[in-house]
Amino acid sequence: MKPVHAKHRPQRGKRAGDRRQEAESGATPAPAARPGEKRRRQGPLPEEKLPLILEVLPNEDYALIDSGAGRKLEQYGPYRIVRPEGQALWLPALPEAEWEKADAVFTGDTDEEGMGRWRFPGTPLGETWPMRHDGISYQGRFTSFRHVGVFPEQASHWGHMESLIVGARRPVKVLNLFGYTGLASLVAARAGAQVTHVDASKKAITWARENQEMAGLSDRPIRWICEDAMKFAERESRRGNGYDIILLDPPAYGRGPKGEVWQLFEHLPALVETCREILSPRPLAMVLTAYSIRASFFAIHALVRDEFTGMGGGVESGELIIREKAAGRALSTSLFSRWVAV
Ligand SMILES: C[S@@+](CC[C@H](N)C(=O)[O-])C[C@H]1O[C@@H](n2cnc3c(N)ncnc32)[C@H](O)[C@@H]1O
Repeated sequence: MKPVHAKHRPQRGKRAGDRRQEAESGATPAPAARPGEKRRRQGPLPEEKLPLILEVLPNEDYALIDSGAGRKLEQYGPYRIVRPEGQALWLPALPEAEWEKADAVFTGDTDEEGMGRWRFPGTPLGETWPMRHDGISYQGRFTSFRHVGVFPEQASHWGHMESLIVGARRPVKVLNLFGYTGLASLVAARAGAQVTHVDASKKAITWARENQEMAGLSDRPIRWICEDAMKFAERESRRGNGYDIILLDPPAYGRGPKGEVWQLFEHLPALVETCREILSPRPLAMVLTAYSIRASFFAIHALVRDEFTGMGGGVESGELIIREKAAGRALSTSLFSRWVAV
């Protein structure tokens, strides 16, 4: 049988950081819980700011050119790409002739794998191509899952994280859980942080390492770890290791390298709890994004705000959106909730 995260909410002793935060906030300890029962944290809740809509505008590296009729037309570096987009319930603003200029169209043919699921109306393209984000070079790739190796809406988080790292004027440690192809890790490393990047997929780690090389950031301290995110976070907690910024971008469903099951609705509370435990004594932020789930940002907001009780700072939550070029419509991509120290 495949291993499953056994505990919905792991019960652990309080770490020094938590005892200190409770003492500073004047938080009253909660009454003793029954064995195995999770206690709600006591003390003042962080300030809150919501809804917060963070948007990515068309730029020279990436643009959502047009959208509609269940599709989106995007510019990724040199290429125009058409992919399905269930939320584009409206009609395209540009004439069909503009869409026909696409270099690649995701067809999703079920009997095909990898690039076979893509159609190239003009010249057949290679599997990878050079892309950039704010001066960082990396590799785009036509994957069988219709993704191309980056989630451009995440740029809103990257800019915010970069300013926290630079503004801290001290060594900053960043943990990137579910790090995928590593763009966030590269942005953090370029800003001067020491980065730990965790992902369950060997392929994704290899791709991320290639991106590090391509970006000319090979000399920057990034630890690449192929492991189950929850297991890694729990081990760091046991070891008493801390991070100043934690990025958390879990899929709705996933598997660790040893078959560990990740189910967002089942495991997210425990992971957020562990992330709080492994924040350093001078933490800066914890940023959570959630894609493809049937929930409101209010749900992850309440989870993060509860879990960060007694920590001070504030929790801001909302949606990450991409602003379309043709008619200025907003395409919602995901929900987020982030705790920020100041
Ligand atoms: C939504 S993507 C992350 C997107 C990325 N952070 C970005 O902004 O471009 C999800 C990633 O989680 C990884 N993953 C899935 N289950 C996992 C698990 N149990 N532990 C660690 N990583 C996992 C996948 O391999 C994939 O790379």
